[in-house]
Order: sequence, then structure tokens, then C-alpha cells
Amino acid sequence: MPNSFSKILYTSKHLFDTFFESYTIKLFSPKTRITEACLYSLQAGGKRVRPIFVLNAYFEPNELLNPDSNATNHSVFLASLAVECIHTYSLIHDDLPAMDNDDTRRGKPTCHKQFDEATAILAGDTLNSLSFYLLSMMDTSDPLQLRDSIQILHKGAGMEGMILGQMEDIEEEKKPNIHGRESILSSIHEKKTGALIESSFLLGNRLRKDWKERESTLSSYAKEIGLLFQITDDILDVEGNLEELGKTPGKDAKAGKLTYPSLYGMEKTKALRDESVSKAISLASDLPSLNHDFFLGLPKYIAERKN
Ligand code: IPE
Ligand code: IPE
Ligand code: MG
Ligand code: MG
Ligand code: MG
Repeated sequence: MPNSFSKILYTSKHLFDTFFESYTIKLFSPKTRITEACLYSLQAGGKRVRPIFVLNAYFEPNELLNPDSNATNHSVFLASLAVECIHTYSLIHDDLPAMDNDDTRRGKPTCHKQFDEATAILAGDTLNSLSFYLLSMMDTSDPLQLRDSIQILHKGAGMEGMILGQMEDIEEEKKPNIHGRESILSSIHEKKTGALIESSFLLGNRLRKDWKERESTLSSYAKEIGLLFQITDDILDVEGNLEELGKTPGKDAKAGKLTYPSLYGMEKTKALRDESVSKAISLASDLPSLNHDFFLGLPKYIAERKN
């Protein structure tokens, strides 16, 4: 992994964390049961990869390392917080007893365990609507930029994206592994995980002046990264441990989930993961971007992560 990749990763996470800490204090006040539940899950310690994708699709590496404080910069941080809010809501709801029924998330009791189910449902709902409010706060004089940003987030998060993927994930539980399930498995992974990851890259990109030139290659790259991210998540569910993962391993097999290891076995799953890493690296080489160190280093980071 190139050294500059680690530096960019660290710096972008730090930038997001700094914005998060200052901005969410006023956003989640006054303190109520619902703002406490939202903050509990938001602050539980996620990797923040989606906000990092937003920032890296927007900034050049030299700007990222020395950001100034112009209005577009503020907008890109709002967009990065918006995707983290959608993502955190998706995790809170994913963990509910009616869905995956998990007790641990980000190394802590899940939202419904710490509070209760009703509060967790409402905290998820809050973070969902809040993310679109955050986009509305972007400082843009271009109404098309605002409209497109809302549509990009809706496409990734809503009934064509993450929510549809989650629906298919539940519908496909406990079915026998008969021939021909490969395409529904790809569809689940593309939608439940890939769609929001793609939106993250496209949101950051949409705030750039040259967004049009980069959109289609960035979208192909982001789709591959999304698939790779969920294949790795499936592998970690089999091979990871609670301490490192921060969530309970072995849940997919117990729930009869359709995953890469359940359909292909572990050996082929790892071969497919490695193929996906190569594809993503080759797509990164096609990107008309100066931020190559990040885009080239990212696939390996995702494949080798331990949580
Ligand atoms: C977990 O996402 C859910 C999936 C879409 C696979 P992350 O692995 O990004 O979880 P956090 O945000 O770091 O907790
Ligand atoms: C969830 O996939 C994807 C979401 C949209 C939350 P998983 O159910 O595999 O995610 P984890 O393993 O619980 O984080
Ligand atoms: Mg799930
Ligand atoms: Mg789950
Ligand atoms: Mg999983």
C-alpha cells in the first residue's frame, strides 16, 4: 500500500472527524432521548469510509492536505456528513430484531439494545431525513448542483438503492442454493452496499467544476469498490472476531443469508475478491484524476481490512 495512501486516508478521516465534532454539537441540541440515540450510534466509532470517499472525490491530494475554508469546502463536509447519517441509520435499522437482530455494532451495544426498539427505529428515521436537510444547507448558488446532489443521495439510499438491496437481502434468506442465484447475489451487494458507496463518490465529484468529465469513469470505479466492500464484509463475517470486527461474526450463516461464501465457498470467494481488487485498480488507472494515490491504494485497503 503506498505510503501516501495511508497519509491521505488518515488526513481525510481527521478532517471529517474535526468537522463532525464541531458541527454535530449544534445539530443535535437540545439533548433529547432521540438526539442522544442518534449521537450514540454516530459516535460509536465507524471507519467513516463513505465520508472519506466524498472528500477524496472532491479534493485534490494537495488541497486535502492543506484545505482552505471556502464555501464549497463547507458544502463537501455537509455532503460527507449526510452520507454518514444515511449509513448509520441503515446500520441501526439493519441490526433491529426484525432485520438481522444484532446485539453489537461498532464495538458497542446496538442502538436498540442500548435504548429500545422504538427509539432505534426513530433514531434511524431521524438520521435519514437529517441527511437531506444537511444537503439543503450546502452553500451553492447553482440550483442544479443542489437538485443533482439530492437525487444522487436518493438514488443510492432509497428504493432503487440501499433499501431495495436490504429488501432483497431479507427476501433471499433461508432459500436453497439452487443454480442461478449468482445474479440476485450481485444485485443485493450492488444495491444494499454498492449504491450508497457510489453516491458518496458522485456527491463529492458533483461539487467540482469538472464533474461531468469524471462522472462516468468514477461511477464504474465506485461500483467495483462497492462490490469489493461487501464481498470483504461477507468474508469477515466468517473469518473475523468480535473484538476486531466490533460486530458479531458468524451471523450470516446462522440467518441463512445469501452471501459470497455461502454461494461460492471461501476459496472461490477470495479469488473473486482478488479479481475485484484488480478490476478496481485498473479502473482507477482510467480515472482522469490527480488523486491517483488514493484511488489506486483503496482496493487493497478494503480487501485487507480487519473490520
Ligand atoms: C458495514 O459498513 C455495513 C456494510 C455496508 C457492509 P462499514 O464496514 O462501513 O461499517 P462502519 O461504518 O465502519 O461501522
Ligand atoms: C448491511 O449488510 C448493509 C446495510 C445496508 C446496512 P450486512 O447486514 O452484511 O452488514 P453488517 O454485517 O450487519 O454490518
Ligand atoms: Mg443485513
Ligand atoms: Mg447485518
Ligand atoms: Mg455483513
